[in-house]
Amino acid sequence: MKTLNVDLGDRSYPIFIGQNLLSSKKLVAPFVKGKQVMIVTNETIAPLYLAQAKALFEDFQVDTVVLPDGEQFKNLDNLNLIFTALLEKRHNRTTTLVALGGGVVGDMTGFAAASYQRGVDFIQIPTTLLSQVDSSVGGKTGVNHDLGKNMIGAFHQPNCVLIDVDSLNTLPANELAAGIAEVIKYGLICDLPFFDWLESNMEKLNAKNTQSLIYAIETSCENKAKVVAQDEREGGIRAILNLGHTFGHAIETHQGYGNWLHGEAVATGMLMAADLSARLGWIEQESVTRVKDILQSAHLPVQSPQGMSPERFKELMAVDKKVLDGKLRLVLLQSMGHAVTTSDFALEQFDATLHHLTN
Ligand code: NAD
Ligand code: GLY
Repeated sequence: MKTLNVDLGDRSYPIFIGQNLLSSKKLVAPFVKGKQVMIVTNETIAPLYLAQAKALFEDFQVDTVVLPDGEQFKNLDNLNLIFTALLEKRHNRTTTLVALGGGVVGDMTGFAAASYQRGVDFIQIPTTLLSQVDSSVGGKTGVNHDLGKNMIGAFHQPNCVLIDVDSLNTLPANELAAGIAEVIKYGLICDLPFFDWLESNMEKLNAKNTQSLIYAIETSCENKAKVVAQDEREGGIRAILNLGHTFGHAIETHQGYGNWLHGEAVATGMLMAADLSARLGWIEQESVTRVKDILQSAHLPVQSPQGMSPERFKELMAVDKKVLDGKLRLVLLQSMGHAVTTSDFALEQFDATLHHLTN
């Protein structure tokens, strides 16, 4: 097992990464300060891992809430199911919420923990690759609104993150690919040697080779922890973690939550960001081809959804959180392995990218 640390002063916490960790009571129980635990999961994950997760906390009062499965349920209505369960079971301010699932469960549980009785503890047990390499680390929590993705939320750090790589054995292939999109992101934004490694090892990742997955998860979490430690609340550098996301969120909102996976939308968005970076002369056309090739080798989409026009992109991107003072800011590649946030591009270049990569 490997332990990484997210270094945030008195809010620092460990990330445990390894095999068979869902059977290791010694790891997580010390992170529960009170006597009560509420495990939040969904109807797909419950039959697979809830019994094991409950056993981790057998010395505590353990209650559970099972949410409907899907991005379309990541909203205030379903968040209320968590609060109702907590109140019905009389959970007090020393309770610990446990997120057992992918990014949807993690973001909702984290937000419930941030707001229940003005803030209680929580633990992340991510079970998708995407949540293991991204959403469980860094403390962004929240829900969607019909008018915009992740528009309601809070920063709230977990007490620890438990990543059991074995839980990926049951993950469907398209969900694995969606997670690989975020893994590729780290290579592009801040770790070119990792990008090179991914180009050479994609077949092994697609085949769920355990050692390759562990290396990819560790390297991704190391990169994310480093960025978050520098800028917890996204005043600056943390924004690079959103490479491809402004385009991607527009795709997700246009398609209706749940129809394109988050990682799929981010994949297409990253190619759009690379294309625009090349139009600015920051990276070579060859590099754009590398980005396209690696996404395709991970079975990710490289073209926006059929029928989504450039005008629709622009309309939706105008409500993104990253729009500052009326000017669209995007994360682009200054070079391969180095991302920056910028509004320093002409509308014509942005339009050219949208026209090039829309149908
Ligand atoms: P998800 O939570 O919807 O999980 C994907 C699917 O896999 C679901 O159907 C889920 O039930 C199923 N599943 C989960 N674990 C499984 C397992 N081990 N075996 C079989 N099936 C399993 O999606 P996701 O990709 O994990 O997360 C996407 C969400 O994360 C989005 O809402 C996105 O906005 C959010 N996100 C948040 C952050 C952050 O920093 N907080 C970062 C990236 C993404
Ligand atoms: N996924 C973006 C962030 O955590 O900041």
